[in-house]
This record gives sequence, C-alpha cells and structure tokens, in this order.
Amino acid sequence: MASSAPVEIPSSILIVGSGAFGLSTAWALCQNPQYKNTLITVVDRQPFPCPDCSSIDTSRIIRPDYAAAPYTRLATVAQQRWRTDFAPEHYYEVGLAVTAWGPEQRYVSESLANVNAIGADKTEVLNSAEDIKRACGLEGKDEWGSGSTGYVNWSSGWANAEGAMMWLRENLEKLKRVKFVTESVKKLLIDHKMNTVYGVRLSNSTELKADLTVLAAGAWTAALIDLRGICKATGQALCYMPISAEEEALLSRRPTILNLSHGLFMIPPANGLLKIARHGHGYLNPTTIPNPESEDPHDTITTSLPYTCVDDPSQVVPTEGQRQCRDFLTAIHPSLSTPSRPFTRSKICWYTDTRNGDFLISYHPKYKGLFVATGGSGHGFKFLPVIGESILECIEGRTPEDFKGRWEWPAERVPEELWKGDGSRGGPIGLVLKEEMAKSKGKL
Ligand SMILES: Cc1cc2nc3c(=O)[nH]c(=O)nc-3n(C[C@H](O)[C@H](O)[C@H](O)COP(=O)(O)OP(=O)(O)OC[C@H]3O[C@@H](n4cnc5c(N)ncnc54)[C@H](O)[C@@H]3O)c2cc1C
Ligand SMILES: *[C@@H]1O[C@H](CO)[C@@H](O)[C@H](O)[C@H]1NC(C)=O
Ligand SMILES: *[C@@H]1O[C@H](CO)[C@@H](O)[C@H](O)[C@H]1NC(C)=O
Ligand SMILES: *[C@@H]1O[C@H](CO)[C@@H](O)[C@H](O)[C@H]1NC(C)=O
Repeated sequence: MASSAPVEIPSSILIVGSGAFGLSTAWALCQNPQYKNTLITVVDRQPFPCPDCSSIDTSRIIRPDYAAAPYTRLATVAQQRWRTDFAPEHYYEVGLAVTAWGPEQRYVSESLANVNAIGADKTEVLNSAEDIKRACGLEGKDEWGSGSTGYVNWSSGWANAEGAMMWLRENLEKLKRVKFVTESVKKLLIDHKMNTVYGVRLSNSTELKADLTVLAAGAWTAALIDLRGICKATGQALCYMPISAEEEALLSRRPTILNLSHGLFMIPPANGLLKIARHGHGYLNPTTIPNPESEDPHDTITTSLPYTCVDDPSQVVPTEGQRQCRDFLTAIHPSLSTPSRPFTRSKICWYTDTRNGDFLISYHPKYKGLFVATGGSGHGFKFLPVIGESILECIEGRTPEDFKGRWEWPAERVPEELWKGDGSRGGPIGLVLKEEMAKSKGKL
C-alpha cells in the first residue's frame, strides 16, 4: 500500500504538468506558509496554454450533482469559489440538464438523490421528452425517441476552461514563487536500489532534481510510470461550429444539455462558437513503449496513450464521432444542423480514466519521493479552485476523510476489460482510434 507521508516539508517540489491538477497544486503550495522556503518548479512539455491538454478548451461543465456524495461535497465547495473569488468572470451559471433513457437512468436518479440530500432548490424533474424540450429550449422533436427522463439544475453552470486556466497561471506568475520550465520530461530519475525517485530527466538530457516529484501529466502520466490496470487514456470527441450573434443570444441563456444515454452534450455557445461533444467510453490508443520504470530498452509495455493535434496537426475527430455529434445537433436544433453548416473544427481530448471514475491522488507504493495526482476521469476540471488543496492534504498524509479508499493507489491492478466505470458514460464501447481513423476520410 501507499507509503506514508514525509514528516518534513520537502525543500524542493517538482510538478510535472501544468494542467488543472498541476497548476492547482502549485497554487496551493504558494498559499501555504509552511512551504515558503520550498523551491517549486512546474515543468510542461508545451508552452502555456498547451494546445492539446485536457484542461484547455472553450468550456467545462461545473456541476455538484454526482452519484457519489464525496464529489458532490467537494464540487459544492469548488462551485462556491467559482461564484465568488476564483475566476468568476469565466463562470456562467445557466443550468445543466442531465437526461437519460434506459440503464443510465440509474445514474440520474442517484445523482438526484444526493443533491436532494444537500437541500435541492432550483431543480426541476423532467419526465418526458416534451419537458426536456421546454426546459432546454430545444427546437427539435428529439428524433432519437421519446420516454426520456432527467432533471435540470438551474444552479449548475460551466466555465471557460482556457480563460480560467489563464487566470490561475497569471495569478501564480505574479507571486514569482514558481519556476516554470517548458520542456518534455523523458523519464523519472529512479534510484532502483533505494526505490526512490529523485527528479526527472528532460528530453534535452538535463536533470531536474527534487525531494518530491508530483506527477500530474494527465493522460500522459502512463508514459512516465506503469499505470496498466490503474489508469488509461481515452480520447473524447469534440466538434465546434461557428454561430451568429443572434443564435448565440438565444442559446447562451439555455442550460447545458447532457444525454447520459449516448454521452453527447451541448454547452451553451460563447464567442461565436457552439460546442458539441461526447462524454463516452472514448477511443483507445494502445501504444507499445519502453517500460518507463525500467532501464532495459527491450522491456516494453503496451498502454493507451494520447495521440493529439500536437502529434498530427491535421488530426480531426473520426467520422463516427463527427456523425454522432451531428446527429445530436440535428435531434435538438435542426435549424443549426443543415448541410451548409459544417463543423469547422474538431478535436480529440484525452481523459485519464480510472476503473471507477475516482481520481488517483497518492504516493507511489514503490518509490519514495514520488506522488501521483491524476485520474481526472473526465470530471476533474470543476475542482480547479480546490483540488490543489486536497492534493496537498494527501501529500501531507491528511487525505480528506470521505475520499479515503477512493484516491489511494489501488491495492491491485484490474484488467481493463473488467473495469466498471463511473456509470456516467454512454455511446460506443471499445473504439480504437487508429481503426476509426482508417475508416474515416478525415474530412470535416
Ligand atoms: C473533452 C473533455 C471534456 C471534459 N469535460 C469536463 C467537464 O465538463 N467538467 C469537468 O469538471 N471536467 C471535464 N473534463 C475533465 C477535466 O478537463 C480533466 O479532468 C482535467 O482537465 C485534467 O487535468 P490534468 O491536469 O490531469 O491534465 P491536463 O490538463 O492534460 O494536464 C497535463 C499536463 O501535463 C503535460 N505533460 C504531459 N506529459 C508530459 C511530459 N512528459 N513532460 C512534461 N509535461 C507533460 C501536458 O502537456 C499537460 O499540460 C473534460 C475532459 C475532456 C478531455
Ligand atoms: C443544484 O445545484 C445546487 C448548487 O450547486 C445544489 O446546491 C443543489 O443541491 C443542486 N440540486 C440538484 C437537485 O441537482
Ligand atoms: C437521449 O438519448 C436517448 C438514447 O439514444 C434517446 O432516446 C433520447 O431521445 C435522447 N434525448 C435527448 C434529449 O436527446
Ligand atoms: C534543457 O532545457 C532546460 C529547460 O528548458 C534548460 O534550462 C537547459 O539549459 C537545457 N539544456 C540543454 C543542454 O540545452
């Protein structure tokens, strides 16, 4: 099991990854006077804001209605910050309608039970396709069938993810406490005799040493340590369409609509751009790499890793994914979905999925000096204002009571075929990115 926390405050902390988990950790360290003499370094392979990481995008949903109570609690704290002092200019409280049909209805009703338990107010249960249509201002007849159920919470919202990340980064830079390095980490520096990690080697061979290395490299973390059976990268489809100011004015006051049955969702447009995406099982990208924990180049592992617009600037979402996004738009807003209005941009964004949707915020069970903060599982962004504080609590050995048994390094690796998931995903299962790309013409 996870080794115990160091008693002493590390004199140097190196954070790998300038995404939501990494930046929020750096922020928490800077706020905490105990760390005032600690050297803090954040290294990222891309200049900020990085084009392909999962924390940078037009929008991310901010909702406290989880099927698991601890996340509801923490998200409620985070949301209070979004509303008041954490990048509030990037937060929009227009509501979230969660709908489902069939087995996914269970997740909806469990979420609803939880939020009711903490004093639900501005919530409406939606019992029919007609209800959903009215609450969300849909013009379509919901061509995928009726019998839908769901609810809308008018107190949920969304955030401009890139704007909020810029806000955090600027505030962090103003403190002049953190050294930012732009360079890819090639490998951890591991002392195999002592089972200790003492820093990283960059791709230009420079070594950065630290008492504590915090791996927060999102879906790429699996390239730096062996996470087979613990975390896997799954690629999610995002499509964007420009819309007029009049269309935006109508839709921007409507709630986000997320259909858990197929995972498709539409976030209200902003800055002339409408986004349709899929919160699904995602594309896998099995890749064989040298075992990151081994010195032997012939020792390889195969694990799903991101493949993005940085690897291939012409990358687009495979036809299968674009078609689903298109079908969803046609079902809910047919007037926007005419052949003359193509998606002009699409992107694959990588979740770091765990077997049940819990984050992985833990010391490495084998290597001293190594802490891992990842496993966002497609729902980490909303916690940006608070996740760093929680990560710091875990670093100090004070894991929040209700997350004990959820965030720690799992006792065993479970074959990915047996993962149960978090119950919130819809759509096709087992898609492999390379196969779908081969089937696609790759045209928008
Ligand atoms: C399409 C999509 C939709 C989502 N929707 C929501 C939502 O609505 N609500 C919500 O709360 N959450 C949502 N999420 C989840 C949320 O965005 C993530 O949980 C969160 O952003 C993860 O942050 P991170 O810091 O772990 O990863 P990232 O933001 O990916 O950051 C990892 C960083 O590590 C860097 N890195 C990687 N490898 C190396 C290396 N070798 N050397 C140096 N640097 C490296 C990367 O460049 C990157 O900057 C969504 C995610 C996606 C992809
Ligand atoms: C709706 O969101 C608010 C604010 O985040 C929360 O307090 C409330 O419990 C939620 N209610 C439901 C039913 O989702
Ligand atoms: C949600 O998806 C289900 C299953 O595909 C479908 O029957 C239902 O009509 C959809 N609802 C909306 C609002 O799109
Ligand atoms: C490698 O990159 C780091 C960080 O950008 C820089 O400080 C260092 O000087 C570089 N080393 C070499 C040998 O170029």
